[in-house]
Amino acid sequence: MTSAPRADLFRLLGDEDRLRLLALCAEEELTVGELASLLGESQPQITKKSQPLREVGLLSARRDGTRTLLRSHLDADVVIDAALAEGRVLCSKDGSLAKVAAIVAAREELSRRFFDGLGATDPAIELDAAPRADAELLGWLPLLAPLLPGRTLAIDVGTGEGTLLPLLSPIYERVIAVDRSPARLARCAARIASLGLPNVRLREGDVEDSGLAEEIGQRGGADLVVMARVLHHAARPQDAIAAAARLLRPGGYLVIADYLPHDDESMREQGDVWLGFEPAKLRSWLESAPLTNVTVSPFSSPQRPLLQLAAGHKPTRN
Ligand SMILES: C[S@@+](CC[C@H](N)C(=O)[O-])C[C@H]1O[C@@H](n2cnc3c(N)ncnc32)[C@H](O)[C@@H]1O
Repeated sequence: MTSAPRADLFRLLGDEDRLRLLALCAEEELTVGELASLLGESQPQITKKSQPLREVGLLSARRDGTRTLLRSHLDADVVIDAALAEGRVLCSKDGSLAKVAAIVAAREELSRRFFDGLGATDPAIELDAAPRADAELLGWLPLLAPLLPGRTLAIDVGTGEGTLLPLLSPIYERVIAVDRSPARLARCAARIASLGLPNVRLREGDVEDSGLAEEIGQRGGADLVVMARVLHHAARPQDAIAAAARLLRPGGYLVIADYLPHDDESMREQGDVWLGFEPAKLRSWLESAPLTNVTVSPFSSPQRPLLQLAAGHKPTRN
């Protein structure tokens, strides 16, 4: 709740641009750049106009690399409710509210272009910085298999070139490798053929496709859904996690490997929407999926930026 004196609050909310900012940031957490494009303003203007709202706590700011994201914090209060309602009317009239969903979806455009781009079809270029597998050691993986609660179906969401498939294929009866990029799947198919992984099937699609959830649901759901280095490409990571969780059978596990917060802006050239995730944020998204027994821990690997592992399982029905 803002502690600003009421008179200051009235003055602050007597400005149409600020009402618009409040309404848009209540709809969705948005970057200053996205707000600038929605409202047809420059980024410095948005920063300037949002500053007083940040100072009284009506907007909160979060950094992602060099970008700032703004979100409204509006507790129940008649003045603020009225301001929000008025802001929504203004944004409906100027069309900005209706454009929010499209501008959020556009976060993934670069990522889609990158994975389906020219380099993606050249097998000489290694795209996923794949960890090298020791084939002999991998052959011993079934040693650990009895420890797993279910081994019927694993899904590798955002499989890319199929880096993780040699790990999953010896343990699970069937593995479905999902990716929304046809170019990536073509490379993955070549890899599967060369490694000889007979129980792996490729499936083109986005993790959020309802058809995918239906198809997997008809099989009773997956024992394991893996999403490695995929989440930072999602426009709304919380939606991607919820969609991945819907692919699980009751008791099945979702495991996510993704970056800890970092400041390597050059990763955006590969379509990275987010420069890593705060562990607490990741945890809250898994818990809202809803998954239980959620753990989030650093993942010691030579990979840079540093990775973390988040896991949770779908509650079993009573
Ligand atoms: C950086 S690669 C990671 C590949 C592999 N998981 C790994 O860790 O080596 C990301 C892959 O995820 C795919 N991808 C991104 N978002 C996706 C989504 N929403 N649904 C399905 N695939 C997605 C991309 O097409 C790309 O092939």
